[in-house]
Amino acid sequence: MKLVTSNRGKYAEYKAIMDSVGVEMELLLMSYPEEQLDTIEEVAERSANYLKGVVAGDFFIDDSGLFIESLGGFPGVYSSYVNRTLGNRGVLKLMEGDKNRNAEFRTCIVYYNGELKLFSGKTSGKISDMMRGSNGFGFDPIFIPDQQDKTYAEMTTEGKNSVSHRSKATMAFLEFLKKKTI
Ligand code: IMP
Repeated sequence: MKLVTSNRGKYAEYKAIMDSVGVEMELLLMSYPEEQLDTIEEVAERSANYLKGVVAGDFFIDDSGLFIESLGGFPGVYSSYVNRTLGNRGVLKLMEGDKNRNAEFRTCIVYYNGELKLFSGKTSGKISDMMRGSNGFGFDPIFIPDQQDKTYAEMTTEGKNSVSHRSKATMAFLEFLKKKTI
């Protein structure tokens, strides 16, 4: 099974989980078209439909996004663009003086093995007042998951995996894989 992504940070997180349960996974490092649709599920499904004509064998992809309550769910499906343009500094600036720091990270995994299967995971938390930590990638330095006081970027890969949106989607995916092989 291949993970298709251009994001080595995502790969590191999946690799740690898959290794811990003995599931083999290889990385296919490539980017692919991501259309701007209304939900991450639709974006991921569209991308997987493109990739099934390109990638040999079974594969999965991950589409994720950060949804900030006081910004009406922004950047959501625009997370990649906002990360590249505004960055963490820009997001903190947008939220300056904002008392409501509630936010949610969501992941949708799409697995293709002759047919498409979707698995979702989400983690709620808060947007920090400043950037903290240097681990991980993307918005990790500004997201503090609920019941934690560290940002994702202050956690180890294992620490982030113990609470993250991505690991929850992965657990649902692994559950499916397990049932399939019984
Ligand atoms: P993508 O479209 O799934 O690649 O992700 C959209 C944007 O959200 C990218 O800029 C990523 O860096 C960011 N992102 C996705 N997942 C995470 C995460 O687990 N932590 C921090 N940022 C993330």
